[in-house]
Amino acid sequence: MWTYRNPVDLQFGCGRFAQLAGLIGGRRYALVTYPDAMFLELSERLVSGAGTPVLTVDDVQPNPDFALLERQAARFAECKAEPDVIVALGGGSVIDSAKVFAAAAGDFTTVRRYLETSENAGALSQIPIIAVPTTAGTGSEVTCWGTIWDRETGRKFSLARPGLYPSHAVVDPELTLDMPLGLTVATGLDALSHAFESIWNRNRNPVSTGHAIAAASEIMRVLPRLVEQLGNVDLRARMAKAALLAGLAFSNTKTAIAHSISYPVTLRHDVQHGIACSFTLPLIVRSLASSDLPCLEAVKAILGEDLIDGADRLQAFLENLGISTDPASYGIGREEWLDLIGTALVGERGQNFVGSREELLGRDPYERGVPRQIPAQ
Ligand SMILES: NC(=O)c1ccc[n+]([C@@H]2O[C@H](COP(=O)([O-])OP(=O)(O)OC[C@H]3O[C@@H](n4cnc5c(N)ncnc54)[C@H](O)[C@@H]3O)[C@@H](O)[C@H]2O)c1
Ligand SMILES: [Fe+2]
Repeated sequence: MWTYRNPVDLQFGCGRFAQLAGLIGGRRYALVTYPDAMFLELSERLVSGAGTPVLTVDDVQPNPDFALLERQAARFAECKAEPDVIVALGGGSVIDSAKVFAAAAGDFTTVRRYLETSENAGALSQIPIIAVPTTAGTGSEVTCWGTIWDRETGRKFSLARPGLYPSHAVVDPELTLDMPLGLTVATGLDALSHAFESIWNRNRNPVSTGHAIAAASEIMRVLPRLVEQLGNVDLRARMAKAALLAGLAFSNTKTAIAHSISYPVTLRHDVQHGIACSFTLPLIVRSLASSDLPCLEAVKAILGEDLIDGADRLQAFLENLGISTDPASYGIGREEWLDLIGTALVGERGQNFVGSREELLGRDPYERGVPRQIPAQ
């Protein structure tokens, strides 16, 4: 028995951005975006069609943090009239920030309290969101959660509520054309990780798995070509579609062990999210290779029948993109590595992982994943 649900109305294609004003349809809107020139230009284009927003939050920073979110959310309380809709124009950090603002509706303390205690969900608001992703990507345009960071205490929170699915996702691949190389790789690998993570996942279902196989296979075909031709709009469109499919896949499963490992790696070692959640993928595949788990059929559909060979190819794919799979290159020592894995496995996302603790700890990432003595539990 299984169910699959995703309520987001998808609008995909080059030039879709021009139709955003029509979608807002004269409603009072708040615009959430980054401060960079490219986004100022896009905002001006939007305003010329949709009118002036009742509020613009244009100082979003990568990896939204409690302290800034609190100040930004307060601006909604100062608004003369609450917006009918929030337009999130940017990558995962913008869309996740918009989810916080949608839930807070000017009162960040309700969000903070909910995140810290899981209490009083009823006090959270749910202003509708139109998500317009400019990276490909986090998939946040089709998920009902946002990642929030608290650097001061070194913690990461997930604000997850069914009411936080965007009402619409407007995916215009042309908006991703100016992504520089490093961002293209990191965001593409984030999407690849979402696809794999939805497969080795206790919550998987045939629809999520189908989307994940299509997404991961396409990303592995397209990303190596895209890094050679960053301005190729067809390749950008294929990546945007693949990232969207990966988003649809993990929107129903959440992520698993690679993401659980990634959060402390980002917080402690300042590694970009997309890299932190993907450099462990070959090791995870190796840890699954000798099992007879049903989900392996899907992993084989992407990487081929021989998964040890497939893991080697996945590693070569990452290395060709300039991504090391050696934890030492991110400043993670052996002791910290074992601690990371142990903690990651018991974390909320880690518990979604269907593989075995022993197999995972039994692979040495410092030695290209060759088996080693399994540490005592
Ligand atoms: N909610 C979810 O489902 C979900 C899933 C995965 C990741 N995330 C979160 O999303 C965040 C990462 O988001 P991201 O990887 O999309 O990047 P981002 O939103 O953090 O943006 C990173 C940088 O890229 C720049 N940028 C964005 N689009 C650009 C473009 N088209 N051209 C040039 N520059 C551009 C921005 O100005 C910013 O400085 C992390 O906080 C991560 O935890 C959320
Ligand atoms: Fe991710």
